[in-house]
Amino acid sequence: MKINNKCALVTGATGGLGTALCRMLAKDCKKLILLARNRDKIGHLEKKLKSLNAHVRIESHILDLSDGKAVKKTIEVIKTSNKRIDVLINNAGIGTHGSLLSSNTEDVEKLMDLNLHTPLLLSLGLKELLYSADESYLVNIGTVAEQIAMPVMGAYSVSKSGLYMLSRVLAIEGRKKNLKILHVTLGPMNNKNFDNNLLAKGELKKNTVFKTDTDKVAEKIILGIRRNRRHLTIPFYFSVVICLDRLFGRTLDQFKLRMLK
Ligand SMILES: NC(=O)c1ccc[n+]([C@@H]2O[C@H](COP(=O)([O-])OP(=O)(O)OC[C@H]3O[C@@H](n4cnc5c(N)ncnc54)[C@H](OP(=O)(O)O)[C@@H]3O)[C@@H](O)[C@H]2O)c1
Repeated sequence: MKINNKCALVTGATGGLGTALCRMLAKDCKKLILLARNRDKIGHLEKKLKSLNAHVRIESHILDLSDGKAVKKTIEVIKTSNKRIDVLINNAGIGTHGSLLSSNTEDVEKLMDLNLHTPLLLSLGLKELLYSADESYLVNIGTVAEQIAMPVMGAYSVSKSGLYMLSRVLAIEGRKKNLKILHVTLGPMNNKNFDNNLLAKGELKKNTVFKTDTDKVAEKIILGIRRNRRHLTIPFYFSVVICLDRLFGRTLDQFKLRMLK
């Protein structure tokens, strides 16, 4: 799908991947709708995007994306100020490096709300605006941990595997309405913001290898939209790891425990 002169909405726009995506979209899109929680970061991002393309229109919404009521209110505001959305990117998300069984229930609920419930609310709440476009794209940013059960990333794995199934279901149902879905199964990126935001830290050994550059990931996602892709695994070699886990899961689970401190 072409993205020239289109309207794109990005959640978690101020984060590592969100910012990289917005920078790329700003060059071609007519309008960007940005959702994030920090007013200063959004202000800074707006200036950066305007410097890339002075003509791009920007509409920003500051809210806690793990608060369902705030999300529903924002959906109504977006519906009054926009007739259509061509690209919706469910990017905001938090991870965890803490055991699921020892987690605080409220923390896990917040993670589930942000990573799964909000993408679901946005997809359903904004579907009319997506249908109004001749063709539209919904992009869900997932993780390798949605396909492989990882120790102490349990809550994250559970939320993102739900997101993966949301993508699969919408990919079938959306066909009738010219709505395309791109699901991104993403490996670790070199982004400190994500590591700082983790729900719990410290139980997983630090991964300093296998980290992909955030800008490269954003480039691949934009290319995926342009080429009408339905699923991307970034970097590609994680597809092999996922296949191995499906074939030899029980044996590999022994090795996964070694990742714990
Ligand atoms: N980084 C990785 O290694 C990695 C690997 C696989 C998948 N992913 C996925 O990629 C996506 C983007 O990750 P990233 O690395 O760019 O993370 P990031 O830099 O932490 O960005 C996340 C964005 O979401 C926002 N956000 C977090 N909690 C929020 C809340 N309650 N309400 C509103 N906004 C909130 C953050 O706001 P602030 O700017 O205020 O923090 C930020 O804009 C996520 O879905 C993540 O699960 C990341």
